[in-house]
Amino acid sequence: MSAHQDPFTQVAELTTQLRHHEYLYYGMDAPEITDAQYDALMNELKALEAAHPELLSPDSPTQRVGGRPAEGFQKVPHSRPMLSLDNAYNAEELADWDRRVHELAGNLPVKYIAELKLDGLSLALHYEIGTDGNARLVRGLTRGDGSIGEDVTSNVRTMKSIPLTIPAARLKKSGLIDQHDQHAIEIRGEIVMPLATFKKANAEREAAGLAPAANPRNFAAGTIRTLDPNIVAQRRLDFYAYFLILNGEYNPAGQHATLETLTALGFRVNPHRDTFSTPEQLMTFIDKAEAERETLGYEIDGVVIKVDSQTTQLRLGYTGRAPRWAIAYKYTARAGITQVLEIQVTVGRTGKLTPLAVLKPVSIGGTTVVRAGLFNADEVARLGVRTGSWVKVERGGDVIPKIAEVVPRPETDAGIPEAAEPFQMPDHCPVCGTLAEHTEGEVDTYCINIDCPARLVQSLLYFSHRGVMNIEGLGEALVVQLLNSGLVKSIADLYTLTEEQLLTLERVGKKSAESLLTQIEKSKDAGLARVLMGLGIPFVGERTAELLAAEFGTVQAVENASQEDLEKVQEVGPKVAASVHDFFQNEPNRALVTRLAELGLKLTAEKKQRTTQLEGLTFVLTGTFPTLSREEAKEKIESAGGKVSGSVSKKTNYVVAGEEAGSKLTKAQELKIEIIDEPKLLELLTQKPPAHLS
Ligand code: IVH
Repeated sequence: MSAHQDPFTQVAELTTQLRHHEYLYYGMDAPEITDAQYDALMNELKALEAAHPELLSPDSPTQRVGGRPAEGFQKVPHSRPMLSLDNAYNAEELADWDRRVHELAGNLPVKYIAELKLDGLSLALHYEIGTDGNARLVRGLTRGDGSIGEDVTSNVRTMKSIPLTIPAARLKKSGLIDQHDQHAIEIRGEIVMPLATFKKANAEREAAGLAPAANPRNFAAGTIRTLDPNIVAQRRLDFYAYFLILNGEYNPAGQHATLETLTALGFRVNPHRDTFSTPEQLMTFIDKAEAERETLGYEIDGVVIKVDSQTTQLRLGYTGRAPRWAIAYKYTARAGITQVLEIQVTVGRTGKLTPLAVLKPVSIGGTTVVRAGLFNADEVARLGVRTGSWVKVERGGDVIPKIAEVVPRPETDAGIPEAAEPFQMPDHCPVCGTLAEHTEGEVDTYCINIDCPARLVQSLLYFSHRGVMNIEGLGEALVVQLLNSGLVKSIADLYTLTEEQLLTLERVGKKSAESLLTQIEKSKDAGLARVLMGLGIPFVGERTAELLAAEFGTVQAVENASQEDLEKVQEVGPKVAASVHDFFQNEPNRALVTRLAELGLKLTAEKKQRTTQLEGLTFVLTGTFPTLSREEAKEKIESAGGKVSGSVSKKTNYVVAGEEAGSKLTKAQELKIEIIDEPKLLELLTQKPPAHLS
């Protein structure tokens, strides 16, 4: 966001961006930015609104409690903070930590327990013991910000590795928990998506034309935050328990005993663990685990080492964010050297063009790597990668490895020659051939053809989304079927669907077909603002769409507006104007709009009356009017360019007095200000504007 833009435009753009990211996060389960980036945008908007309170609208994303997660999940404080861990990256750092532990532990025994560091997301489960002695799952919370989590109970309930009830007999047998004096049990652990599930589900997404999730952790996080528990049930997620809180106390009998207790209670506890005394022994375990990493069936990113005894743990205590009694030994990224054979460009769901390096196959950590992500043109330039470059490729937890740096060409067997010219983004979409758009000063290039096959799933979902065209029942699965069956090749095709066609699709019965058709039919009346929004024009969110609709009144007028015309609209800055203008310069987009009109969509809006009769005039209202309410009178005056003030002064031009007018009337008489009644006001409103304004 550039600082030289006016605050109006900045607020409008930030709002549009935040809504877009909220939609990706909630609606699509495929966030494109991190929580931290999202928070940064939100903070920017908050700061702007604080500095310009007149720009704060009640439907601003800042006005929604809790921001992004609030839409679906309640925020609930954790019983005790969910902490993170300090890291060590090599044997020396581990030995340093061991030394500090011994110093702080004094004469207390130090025995370590090493566990795998599961690469998932942490979850807190709350159980309550009922009068029958059984413990029931009452709540599941994500980590959230560590202090406050999101309540994902209904999703957690569908996970098979999480017991809904812990029978009284098990509680008793576990030894640690005696149901007579314990009423609340909290168990924490990690949700992970097995690699097999990840690969299968991701392949399905790709086949459906959806962007694959980057890694199992993201996929698991997206899954546990979906609003539909059925989806969670379908995608197998595992839960490994590693932490227990009883009566507000962490792991009361020490870590080793905790893991035994958790097993006895019926939880899955990761079997790869052992106890040790020296950092050398720990390193042996760490190296062994790294060697086994590829065969585990789920992702790990290191080993967590914990002091076993609770007494020693308590002595060591906590820093602000992490326990001193534990450390995460993190593995470094697995890397390999290979050559870039070609730089391809792919088109994402939002139309974003992304360069991708096709590599000479190289084995990294047991996996053959054939491509690497390059993110955007700036990244390619920063790295200096071109066809034929030799590169160091790193495989983190992500599906698509990344290029860390360009390395010197080997002297022998250098493969294909290096390209003479640096990489350049194509100026046309590689999928549909439409002229691609690159805004000066922006990083990314976009295909702006809304019917581009690479974008269609996303376009359709957005178009029908709640708050846009509101076509209920048109979910991801159905959209994918509609596209795969060829019934829909463009947004407009939604409006030609018939019941017979819908009945040919899987899991569509007569009732749902009928209801979908009703929804589609109903959406025809959504009006111009909604359609403008639904077209997914970059930077055109709800507010801008409404402003454009009110200003231009018809879709033809918006289509034919010049960039200057568009910029004249209040709150529309050069960037938004350029985006709208470019969109309608594009023939396929115009054709789509024409078809939507032919299919009976309402593409008009009530045009804002641009009346200026009362411009420069200040009114004061007092008493009760015969037909208008105070509010209506105020609205009429303001929409005709006049101002309404609460008190009479020399600057007041007219006092509009109704029945039982009070002290304002007296004041007006004193100041010799013209007093008029409602009929006279209505007359002023219908007058021609003063000559100098017309
Ligand atoms: S214990 C107070 N044990 O790593 C200590 N954490 O980087 C809490 N993690 O937020 C954590 N495997 O989500 C612990 N065996 C394990 C773990 C583990 C993965 C995660 C956990 C935590 C993060 C810290």
